[in-house]
Amino acid sequence: MKKLFETRYGHFSPDGREYVITRPDTPRPWANVICPDRYGTIVTQSGTGYSWMTHATFNRLTRWEQDLVRDEWGKWLYCLDRDSGELWSLAWSPVRPRFDFYECRHGLGYSTFASEIHGVRAELTIFVPPEETLEIWRVALTNRSRRRRRLALTSALEWNLGPAPDTHREFHRLFIETDFRAADRALYATKRLNTIAEHGRGQPWNVEWPHVAFHAVSERPSGWESDKRGFFGQWGSAARPEAVAAGRLTRTSGKWLDGMAALQVNLTLPPGGTRQVAYTLGIGESLAEARRLARRYRAPASVERALRATREHWRRLLEPLEVHTPDPAFDLLTNHWLKYQAISCRLLGRTGYFQMGGAYGFRDQLQDSQVWLPLAPERTRRQILLHAAHQFRDGTAWHWWHPLTEEGAKKPLNDDLLWLPFLTLQYLRETLDWRSLDERVPFLGDDGKPSRDVGTLYEHCRRAIDSFWQRLSPRGIPRMGAGDWNDGLSAIGAKGRSESVWLAHFLIGILEDWVELERRRPGGDAAVSRRYALGAGKMRRAVNRHFWDGRWYVRATRDDGTPIGSKQNHEGRIFINAQTWAILSDVVPPRRLPALLDSLRRHLYREYGPLVLYPAYRTPDAGIGYLTRYAPGARENGGLYTHAGLWAVQAECKLGRAAEAWRLLRSFSPVHRGMRPDFYEVEPYVTPGNVDGPDSPHFGRGGWTWYTGSATWMFRIHSDWILGVRADWDGLRVAPCLPPGWKGFTMRRAFRGARYSISVRRGRKQELRVDGWKVAGDRIPDLADGREHQVTLILKGSR
Ligand code: GLC
Repeated sequence: MKKLFETRYGHFSPDGREYVITRPDTPRPWANVICPDRYGTIVTQSGTGYSWMTHATFNRLTRWEQDLVRDEWGKWLYCLDRDSGELWSLAWSPVRPRFDFYECRHGLGYSTFASEIHGVRAELTIFVPPEETLEIWRVALTNRSRRRRRLALTSALEWNLGPAPDTHREFHRLFIETDFRAADRALYATKRLNTIAEHGRGQPWNVEWPHVAFHAVSERPSGWESDKRGFFGQWGSAARPEAVAAGRLTRTSGKWLDGMAALQVNLTLPPGGTRQVAYTLGIGESLAEARRLARRYRAPASVERALRATREHWRRLLEPLEVHTPDPAFDLLTNHWLKYQAISCRLLGRTGYFQMGGAYGFRDQLQDSQVWLPLAPERTRRQILLHAAHQFRDGTAWHWWHPLTEEGAKKPLNDDLLWLPFLTLQYLRETLDWRSLDERVPFLGDDGKPSRDVGTLYEHCRRAIDSFWQRLSPRGIPRMGAGDWNDGLSAIGAKGRSESVWLAHFLIGILEDWVELERRRPGGDAAVSRRYALGAGKMRRAVNRHFWDGRWYVRATRDDGTPIGSKQNHEGRIFINAQTWAILSDVVPPRRLPALLDSLRRHLYREYGPLVLYPAYRTPDAGIGYLTRYAPGARENGGLYTHAGLWAVQAECKLGRAAEAWRLLRSFSPVHRGMRPDFYEVEPYVTPGNVDGPDSPHFGRGGWTWYTGSATWMFRIHSDWILGVRADWDGLRVAPCLPPGWKGFTMRRAFRGARYSISVRRGRKQELRVDGWKVAGDRIPDLADGREHQVTLILKGSR
């Protein structure tokens, strides 16, 4: 078997769809975030993690705490040899046995742990069937020894049932009630208090948790346990719970416990014999539903069917865009992992190991929903409408809001609202679905509840944009408020006077895109077009007049008018977004471009990716915000912030600088960075939120993986900019920025009702053909006939 990108901790499977971890002691927890719909679970290479439904912080099923070092919370499976007394766990945690063999394979929608110890081979697969509110743990045990083995398999998990973490456990445990039903082979758990009031469910602190949790097993249990003390013993440990070691659980359930669930199954295996057992853990809206679910996966065939359906689900979801290039790392990220990260973790799970979440960020999940554009654009549309419903009448929006309670935070981060038109523009360019602009969605009233003011999506976008005319500084660029894309600039505009240059770039791009939209949409408004074109032109001139700092653009001004991201500053002299978006929105005039590019390369492009700013702040600055309080070189304070780093790659592609774009992208590709795992530390199969910058002693160390908006952007930049296949108003453009040394690539992609099989190679003369017919320019005209078409592009140049 060919091992792709092998290190001492693991490698990718030959098809790139699995990451195989071959030893459990990875430098950090290496996780999988599995969430095909409402129900989700996180599992690390050692078997720790947690489960939730709909909201990972407000509706957590199992207890867990973020501990970066001990990583000791999870859902366990123990195996006891009832003759020899040997006790181990099927994953490394919590017993941490010295396995003869250990492998954790993280896949798309599942994780598998294979182990061997004491002559017993075990395989445990954890997965969440699509459209179910449960997870299945499929276990197979094989006796590889020469004697008959009498084994006891025992599960264990602690109930959380509601908002997490429940640090005041002595209080919370008093509301949990558990019940064992032998006929169902299941334990049930409810909680008679919910400290949040889920939408429409009365007062918090005096309502029930509106679900019933269950933990079930396919075999008749020989024992069960619902009390943590009964299971572990008062001074016992997870590595050797007293009840498991004694081979006997107390069979307790009721209301007076420290609620947990454990189910024990006794198995006798002859030499060479194998047995399958399936555990489930899940949640129902009522006891009746929980009971139905608890009994659903008893037969091995139903478990196999569910696992097949799970794999099929993820395959079908991700396959509409597939590429083959000379670079296997690029391929496995584009074809599998980036899309999976964006969908499973960012859009559906909205939580990770390094960030427990559950809320929707107004700008965050809108940007994430770009991943659907080439896969299932109606889901981008759904996301846009969801966010439109969280916008106020004056055009502003929640900064984030919680599903379940619909509470939100209204912070004046002045870019939030603009992502709505930004995404609507992307969506329309992909689909030309003009009717979506007529979708009617209520605005929020001042009380944060849907008001009677209902507007079309078109009106929602226009109110967001038009709100800026009242929010310009005397010099004519947008006020920042309490931050813009950069959350860490949280104090810079406390008095409402600071100006954001990045926000000006962002707005200029949107205004000019909107001009194009008005020209094209049926019944487009010429007066709006004119006004926006004028407004954009004026703002571009204002930026260039007041904020060009000689060799780059200033980032912003504070309330008192002094600049940040300027040569006048000692710390935070140059910020990347003010430069990259000057290119992306065509703000920088050609005569200034060479100096700008030179500054990017000189100050920001470093060995492990483009820095978000340089040099890092060392002095906390109450007039800037919390980014100055981060350790120097960490996150927004002078690290590689992957999300922003990707815009540098896009900008280089936009300028057609293929070698620079590729060099940059490669410099922070997680797969390549992961080839030095003890240095880079984090998972090689997903993007990290940040990598420490040169002002940190850990320059190059990755962090905050999975829950980062960079996954979608990396996917888009791979497909739309490096490979250059992107939606344009007039059709699908094929304008690659081909890395040096690549001979070509192929891509399958759907677009506006047709499927395209695109193949690009280098040659002497530029030539685009669709089904053999020559086409002028670089756009495939819309065919929209539901068929598959062959597209070939010969790119001029031999490199
Ligand atoms: C975090 C936030 C995102 C923000 C970024 C930069 O990822 O979720 O909204 O743009 O940080 O500060």
